[in-house]
Amino acid sequence: MPATNGAPDPHRDTHFGFRTVGLDDKQAMVDEVFAKVARRYDLMNDLMSGGLHRVWKDILVTAVNPPKGERPFAAIDVAGGTGDVAFRIAEAGGAGTRVTVCDINEEMLGVGRERAAQRGLDGVVTFMAGNAESLPFPDRSHDACTIAFGIRNVPRIDVALAEFYRVLRPGGRFLCLEFSTVDVPGLDALYDFYSFNVIPALGRAVAGDAEAYRYLVESIRRFPRPKAFADMITAAGFRRVSWRVLTGGVVALHSGWRL
Ligand SMILES: C[S@@+](CC[C@H](N)C(=O)[O-])C[C@H]1O[C@@H](n2cnc3c(N)ncnc32)[C@H](O)[C@@H]1O
Repeated sequence: MPATNGAPDPHRDTHFGFRTVGLDDKQAMVDEVFAKVARRYDLMNDLMSGGLHRVWKDILVTAVNPPKGERPFAAIDVAGGTGDVAFRIAEAGGAGTRVTVCDINEEMLGVGRERAAQRGLDGVVTFMAGNAESLPFPDRSHDACTIAFGIRNVPRIDVALAEFYRVLRPGGRFLCLEFSTVDVPGLDALYDFYSFNVIPALGRAVAGDAEAYRYLVESIRRFPRPKAFADMITAAGFRRVSWRVLTGGVVALHSGWRL
């Protein structure tokens, strides 16, 4: 539970949307959200973003740039949920490309495994349960590590970033797609209205759960701005850290290399 004596304690507390919660309580709350929405997750992504999440994910995969030929290339997509990014990496790469989806939520992974089988990708994309804060992979075992719309759900972001660094080989690249901060005058007010009114209503109508989608919107607002997040990536050991904002700041793509 959060500290009760006033200010949140950064060693024990974090945020679940706009609420201050104990670091140890947040993960269970996040897990409950994704267990509830897993079956409707992909449909909701399309509806909420008007299909834009596909464009953002394609930009991420272009940056991953898996080799087209036989050369072995191992990628992990952390918090990869129902496999969307992993399928895109597998389809962009050649015969040597393998992708592991690592997600903490069995319901999301279950949907992902079904989708992989439907696409004939079950030999290329594998699904593994695991926590971003303690990845079930050896040191220096992967060429790329991606996370899309996942990092803001993780209670200890610094611990997860250190894990991403640990599992990458020298020369490996970390790429993170995450909702960010809309600073364009006019667009920000529209985005606020859409976020706090339309998205929870859509969540209620389509996924039967407005609260889960209110969490989603609130968690986006609590996430650090691009420069602050880039500093966290650098602090984890990554070099040549950079970012670009997409769609007026709705989303940012951060990149860092293990050198
Ligand atoms: C918004 S979804 C993103 C799914 C997918 N990456 C996509 O872009 O469609 C967030 C995912 O993060 C996962 N997640 C939350 N906390 C996690 C953790 N500590 N470790 C690994 N995955 C986690 C959730 O289970 C969920 O599947």
